Amino acid sequence: MAKRTIADLNLKGRKCLIRVDFNVPQGKDGSISDDRRIRAALPTIRHALKEGAAVILVSHLGRPTGDPATDGPFTLAPVATRLGELLGQPVVHASDTVGPDAQAKAAALKPGDVLLLENVRFNKGEKKGDAAFAAALAGLADCYVNDAFGTCHRDEASMVAVPECKSPGDRAIGFLVAKEVEILDKLLGHPAKPMIAVMGGAKVSDKIGVITNLLPKIDALLVGGAMTYTFLKAQGHSTGGSRVEADKLDLARQILEAAGPKLRLPLDHLVSKSLDPTSETMVVEGSDIPDGWIGIDIGPKTIAAYGEAVRNAGTVIWNGPMGKFEDEPFRKGTAGVAAAMAESKGITVVGGGETAEAAELFGVAEKVSHVSTGGGAFLESLEGKTFNSLKVIPDLN
Ligand code: 3PG
Repeated sequence: MAKRTIADLNLKGRKCLIRVDFNVPQGKDGSISDDRRIRAALPTIRHALKEGAAVILVSHLGRPTGDPATDGPFTLAPVATRLGELLGQPVVHASDTVGPDAQAKAAALKPGDVLLLENVRFNKGEKKGDAAFAAALAGLADCYVNDAFGTCHRDEASMVAVPECKSPGDRAIGFLVAKEVEILDKLLGHPAKPMIAVMGGAKVSDKIGVITNLLPKIDALLVGGAMTYTFLKAQGHSTGGSRVEADKLDLARQILEAAGPKLRLPLDHLVSKSLDPTSETMVVEGSDIPDGWIGIDIGPKTIAAYGEAVRNAGTVIWNGPMGKFEDEPFRKGTAGVAAAMAESKGITVVGGGETAEAAELFGVAEKVSHVSTGGGAFLESLEGKTFNSLKVIPDLN
């Protein structure tokens, strides 16, 4: 059932609190290294402004503990600056979330103004879902919008208790959350066939929920990344010095048995003497990695085979890199999957922080059907979980 969106709210002359996920990656100097999550919230913010609202934005950044002595680096001040540049108008930044500065700045807002509150996790009440904290935050505005897809799997105050302070008619999701939910519903409901999943990354244990939920729905699961070697070890192959989750071999065997021929492992591997990008490499065919070598990427035959499967699929879900793509010599596999995603005529969805980063790096983010802004929220959605943060938003009548 579709949810009420911001388009269903009365916004004229009102203050609208929008929960966004501005948890953006930053360099050592605090500069924003990827502003995708900020850009993704612009349609909702612009709509609220166009409809005559004053906008109050609330977000977390990182995982501060609520201790002022150590929380400083997690300030949202650089985000306010970047948002102002993107919106083309000043964004006022409050030095607290519900304290005197936020209260005064929220009270002074006029229609068309934008205020970004300080990091909501500077308040211990946020994590705890504290009712008094939620009431203070909700009290700054007339209505509430959840446009923080990346945080929808969290039950924190700004995600659940704050909207509960508002009447159902004054709660909605934003356009970003609406789009993410619609795509996920399509993937899990009636996807165009054949549907395949390309899964990479280090750990089988991180993906078990997703694999279990997706297996009955998909036609093939193409595995890459370091988790390959846990599966190969579980099959009795030698894995050399490759990363293996030694305590997950039984789990890997169970997955292999449940998946049968749907699960495809690499046909060949790029192996390296060490993790150092300058070290010696070679391609190894088959399923055994020689002693003294580390599996570091999928090999050329696998790149061709996975690429063909991606190009011919009706729907592709891609989560997790195929190798250590941050280093140039080890990125051909991830780049190959990215290129095939861009060329595929099917619905192509990329999800997870690192995978979205790879899509940007290889220039395909605008060429696939959708790049999710969710990491954990995307994976938990694929696991079939439902979120309290969305349950509190009423369905569209
Ligand atoms: C994310 O980056 O996945 C979200 O912003 C949630 O952050 P968290 O894992 O710190 O709750």
